[in-house]
Amino acid sequence: MSSFNKILIREVIESAKERPQIYYTPRAALECIGSWVPAGLRIWEPACGQGHIAGFFKERGHDVVATDLDTGSDFLTCVPPEYDILITNPPFKLRKQFLQRAHKLGRPYMLLLPLNTLDRVFYREWAKGKDVRIFCPRKKIDYIRPDGKKSNCLFYSAWFTHDVAGIDMLHFE
Ligand SMILES: C[S@@+](CC[C@H](N)C(=O)[O-])C[C@H]1O[C@@H](n2cnc3c(N)ncnc32)[C@H](O)[C@@H]1O
Repeated sequence: MSSFNKILIREVIESAKERPQIYYTPRAALECIGSWVPAGLRIWEPACGQGHIAGFFKERGHDVVATDLDTGSDFLTCVPPEYDILITNPPFKLRKQFLQRAHKLGRPYMLLLPLNTLDRVFYREWAKGKDVRIFCPRKKIDYIRPDGKKSNCLFYSAWFTHDVAGIDMLHFE
C-alpha cells in the first residue's frame, strides 16, 4: 500500500473516531417492542437526546422520565429516578458501561445496541449467568442522523433486554 493511501486511511479512521455518536432512534425500532412494554409502566429514558424514544412512549400513554448528559444527568453516576423499566439507545462507545449500570440498577431494561455486541470480549464474560435476552428486529435499523435524515445502516441492531416478560433468550421479531 502506498504511503499516500496509508495516510488517507489513518485520516478517515481518526475523523470517524472524533465524530460524535449521535444517532437517534426511528419509530420502526420502537414499534416492534411497543407491545412488550405494558401500559402503566413508568419508563426512564436516561440518554434521551431529542426525545425520539420518550416521545414514542408518551404518545402511547406512558409516564416517561427523560434525562441526558446534555441536560446535566450522567447515567453512569446519577441517582436514578423512580422507574419500572429503562429504555434507551445509548452512545455505542459506552455500550459496556450502559449495560453494566442498567443491570446493576436491578430493574428491567431494554438497550438498543449493535448485534455484534455479542461478539465483544467484555460481553462474553460479563453476560455469563445474567439472563440478558436479545430481541432481534426483522430489519436493520436505519438510525436518524442529527440532520434529520435516515442513515443507511450497514449493521444489524438488537434490543438487549433484562426481565421483560415474554421475551425469549434469543427472540426474533
Ligand atoms: C445515540 S444518542 C440517542 C438518543 C436517544 N436515546 C434516541 O434513541 O433517540 C445518545 C445520547 O446519549 C447521550 N449521552 C452520552 N453519554 C451519556 C451519559 N453518560 N449519560 C447520559 N446520556 C449520555 C448523548 O447526549 C445523546 O443524546
